[in-house]
Amino acid sequence: MAKSLFVCQSCGAEHRKWAGQCPDCREWNTISEQVIETPMRVGKASKPMTTTAITDVAMHKTARRSTDIDELDRVLGGGLVPGSAILIGGSPGIGKSTILLQAAAKLSEQGSVLYITGEESTQQVRLRGERVKAMHPNLQLMAACELESMLATIDEQKSIVVIVDSIQTTVSKRLSSAPGTVSQVRDCASALIQNCKRHGHVLILVGHVTKDGALAGPRVLEHMVDAVLYFEGDRGHAHRILRAVKNRFGPSGEIGVFEMSDAGLIGIRDASRLFLSERAENTSGSVVLACMEGTRPMLVEVQALVAPTVYATPKRSSVGLDINRIAMLTAVLERRMGIPLSGHDVYVNVAGGMKINEPAADLAVLLAILSAYQDRALPHDMMVFGEVGLTGEIRPVGSPENRVREAINLGFTQILMPHENHVRVQEAKLAATLREQTLEPSFIPVKHLSGAAQMALT
Ligand code: TYD
Ligand code: MG
Repeated sequence: MAKSLFVCQSCGAEHRKWAGQCPDCREWNTISEQVIETPMRVGKASKPMTTTAITDVAMHKTARRSTDIDELDRVLGGGLVPGSAILIGGSPGIGKSTILLQAAAKLSEQGSVLYITGEESTQQVRLRGERVKAMHPNLQLMAACELESMLATIDEQKSIVVIVDSIQTTVSKRLSSAPGTVSQVRDCASALIQNCKRHGHVLILVGHVTKDGALAGPRVLEHMVDAVLYFEGDRGHAHRILRAVKNRFGPSGEIGVFEMSDAGLIGIRDASRLFLSERAENTSGSVVLACMEGTRPMLVEVQALVAPTVYATPKRSSVGLDINRIAMLTAVLERRMGIPLSGHDVYVNVAGGMKINEPAADLAVLLAILSAYQDRALPHDMMVFGEVGLTGEIRPVGSPENRVREAINLGFTQILMPHENHVRVQEAKLAATLREQTLEPSFIPVKHLSGAAQMALT
């Protein structure tokens, strides 16, 4: 008799019995029955294996393959590592297929690239390819959903890069469960990854993401691959951010910025200029912040709006920043600066749709709220960064030099920053190198919120 198991499609937890709610992740209606396909074989006791000293392990030179798309290479940590498996996640329509087709065409110059599409026909892919100028005879297309035929083709083709778009449409004949279920996704991905390790090609898997930001079902996939990249951005904005959340062969947290145009995705080197392009002059509630995305400094505008509340409890709302952090910061403003915000709603927004989860944004957020409340604007050429503690003290943050350098490159002349960071910037002799520039910036080191407010809002 075939045994069955009940697997949660959201978190992958396995249960003996069906339940309406998964006891592990508390999601409703996610548990579905699955037949155990391969019974565990209890063989003879395994033989001991030989071990190798770390110094004797053979090293293969792993030259990275450049995708010839600078922003993509940066996120990958310099290019694709042969034999590695990469997962690209993002909501439908964000541009996963587009960027991969563009990269595939460039990679075709180095050898044969296999693009397996399970969602679109080869005609549709060609149409898109013509639009984004991704045409190359070495780029082989295949419309397939079945894992076994994919593996057979990969074995025969000897491609340098294999792209599977998407893992959720891939099904294995061996399993009876529907495409997109945890067991299908996990088994297909694992077979494709093993195959890629054996042949030494680069495997790129496309994975769709559900509303709550998790890869649909297969969070398990994140652990199986070498790198996980997520596409962020919304339909209201043309730009897209590709973020490395995991990378075994490079720094994680690195981002690439792209703009969706009618000729596909275009890398944007100068992202700060893009994010500040629509900034209005002399308006209250607007502060320019230097945040770090991986190793890359980026200037963004934090906007705040403060309005008398009509509710019993005032509203705290945020786009692009953590709402709990906003609640904490408004409490700091209220208690340490005596600003009566309990009768006001506070809205905070990061212009351009960026998401920031760095405490270095604290000071900018507080000054934006204060500036909105007092209806007084900050100087137009002022840039701010710093963490704020519960007593209103300003704490130092990482990479002050990079933040300062980016601000100066964009013509900011007043830099409000934590006192200790100022000391470090001075020690780094940054000032000396900066003096060579035509603009000499003035640094405003601050120790407490009240001092910062005085300096920024005169
Ligand atoms: P796509 O790459 O198909 O998204 P995904 O594979 O992540 O689901 O992106 C499709 C969207 O991009 C679609 O809304 C149309 C838009 N687009 C452009 O604006 N310009 C282009 O050149 C292309 C190819 C797509
Ligand atoms: Mg697609």
